[in-house]
Amino acid sequence: MTLGQTQWTNVGVLASGRGSNFEALLRHEREGYFAKVRIVCLIVDKSDAGALHIAERYGVTFHIVRRKDFSSKEEFEQSIVSILESHEVEWVALAGYMRLVGRTLLERFPQRILNIHPALLPAFPGLHAQRQALEYGVKVSGCTVHFVDEGMDTGPIIVQRCVPVLPGDTEDTLAARILNQEHEAYSEALKAVTERPWCLEGRIVRFLDETANGKGTNLP
Ligand code: GRF
Repeated sequence: MTLGQTQWTNVGVLASGRGSNFEALLRHEREGYFAKVRIVCLIVDKSDAGALHIAERYGVTFHIVRRKDFSSKEEFEQSIVSILESHEVEWVALAGYMRLVGRTLLERFPQRILNIHPALLPAFPGLHAQRQALEYGVKVSGCTVHFVDEGMDTGPIIVQRCVPVLPGDTEDTLAARILNQEHEAYSEALKAVTERPWCLEGRIVRFLDETANGKGTNLP
């Protein structure tokens, strides 16, 4: 490496569907929002995932790895690990990846896998989070970016954003309002963990540049 050259942080994205969060991360990367992050590959577990078209449009290398082509979850995840290693990936972002991450991936990327969930965790984990929020009758919901652990949406929280739940809301209108916030929150979290000093105290993500009034010192 020559002097003054940026040391990139390679990020791999795992998705199963539409890929709007993947696209938001790419857009922010191309706009220069991140100092270090470079999104180097997309891996999908479904050959019809919309995220594939986004990867094509942005010129990002993509791979299709289907669970049914492997006899065990370990072999399936080992194949994903090998692809991520071939791209020298350091951080993994799950963006609508509809599988519980297993030990093979977690042990290879400890505290290096992020997920985004369309609710204010620990409320409404798992599937249909927006429907759960509406049925429960909450007045506020939102999204959470968190580290992935062995549980379902249980890892340490990095960023949350809230939105109001309005009287006439349907699952679709609430999902759309939350999705707008997801597209900002995911990049904010990825930028924070790759550019700011942090540590884990139990399940608390502590940013070491944070002052008593909660403001980071190295971000505008
Ligand atoms: C998002 O709502 C995300 O929070 C959840 O799955 C959805 C994926 O949407 N995990 P997209 O594929 O990123 O558009």
